Amino acid sequence: MPELINDTTDGTQATAEGAADGQALRPHAEDSFAGELKALAAADDRPRPARWRLSPWAVATYLLGGTLADGTVITPKYVGPRRIVEVAVTTLATDRALLLLGVPGTAKTWVSEHLAAAVSGDSTLLVQGTAGTPEEAIRYGWNYAQLLAHGPSREALVPSPVMRAMAQGMTARVEELTRIPADVQDTLITVLSEKTLPIPELGQEVQAVRGFNLIATANDRDRGVNELSSALRRRFNTVVLPLPATPEDEVDIVSRRVGQIGRSLELPPAPEGLEEIRRVVTVFRELRDGLTTDGRTKLKSPSGTLSTAEAISVVTNGLALATHFGDGVLRAGDVAAGILGAVVRDPAADRVVWQEYLETVVRERDGWKDFYRACREVSA
Ligand SMILES: Nc1ncnc2c1ncn2[C@@H]1O[C@H](COP(=O)(O)OP(=O)(O)OP(=O)(O)O)[C@@H](O)[C@H]1O
Ligand SMILES: [Mg+2]
Repeated sequence: MPELINDTTDGTQATAEGAADGQALRPHAEDSFAGELKALAAADDRPRPARWRLSPWAVATYLLGGTLADGTVITPKYVGPRRIVEVAVTTLATDRALLLLGVPGTAKTWVSEHLAAAVSGDSTLLVQGTAGTPEEAIRYGWNYAQLLAHGPSREALVPSPVMRAMAQGMTARVEELTRIPADVQDTLITVLSEKTLPIPELGQEVQAVRGFNLIATANDRDRGVNELSSALRRRFNTVVLPLPATPEDEVDIVSRRVGQIGRSLELPPAPEGLEEIRRVVTVFRELRDGLTTDGRTKLKSPSGTLSTAEAISVVTNGLALATHFGDGVLRAGDVAAGILGAVVRDPAADRVVWQEYLETVVRERDGWKDFYRACREVSA
């Protein structure tokens, strides 16, 4: 019997069949890193908040990486300021919820998933926020067959991920909170301030058990789509995730993630690809900052966000190209088309920005001849 992972509002049940035999295309954090989580739990002798799988210290170590006393290496999941992770983890141990804010591709979703996996051992209690997210997705729905046959009862009620997290003292996640219509967002106010979810149809309520908390993510760029009401904002501690501070950090993040994604796509490792990764990151950072690395030349920035996430996908695609159609070594020609696609979102304005960058910066740079030629070829 496959494990039950999700109830949907129409009463059907989603199952994790693929995951059961290790064939999931993208396993959940708690499955991918089950070994590390187990080692941390065994080594962790610090006090744990109610229903937490690990102590706050161990959760932070899981996210930031480290080596345990017995020599087990914990890989870093998040590369960034330690303080940010410490504040985020601490917030989850208080009665305030956590809001991860930042520009696209700054690992908000990624951090939220790993926090839920480390704290509750389950990152799947998730509500995806969209313009069409209904109140039922946050509160509860009904199994209509049951409802018609037997009237309203607890059996006919289909709990939302938030309701289940409350009942079990777990971590719930809400993705893209500001995309959810304002009146639906406000459903969370009672949940977060009173820690209860009333069910007026039954004259009952679900009270949150200790250990319950909520992590929401929201995009800086979407601000204003559906502004958070101040009543709701006050229930959250906001942690802003920054773009990687240095090029080295960003190269580190990209090569790490490309390695992991490459393994799951069964691409061979590409240690020689580091030079190309460095170039992709340099191009992205320079265009994003509107300034060359040496600080000498001002540049125009293109309209799209050239985030770390985009760099990861450019390099992964390049690696796939090199594997299937090249000699297996990541070269300039394998990433050029990807970079062009990421930079030129608006065919008119961005193309001018790109051409200018290509001719004034890339062309003149020592050791970048092959890259210039590859870019010229795909830009033509
Ligand atoms: N500082 C970082 N440390 C580790 N990984 C990072 C970092 N920044 C970005 N990434 C990687 O970037 C990818 C995209 O991150 P994610 O999807 O979480 O971004 P997001 O902030 O949720 O973006 P969006 O606003 O588009 O939803 C992930 O694979 C993540 O590993
Ligand atoms: Mg996200």
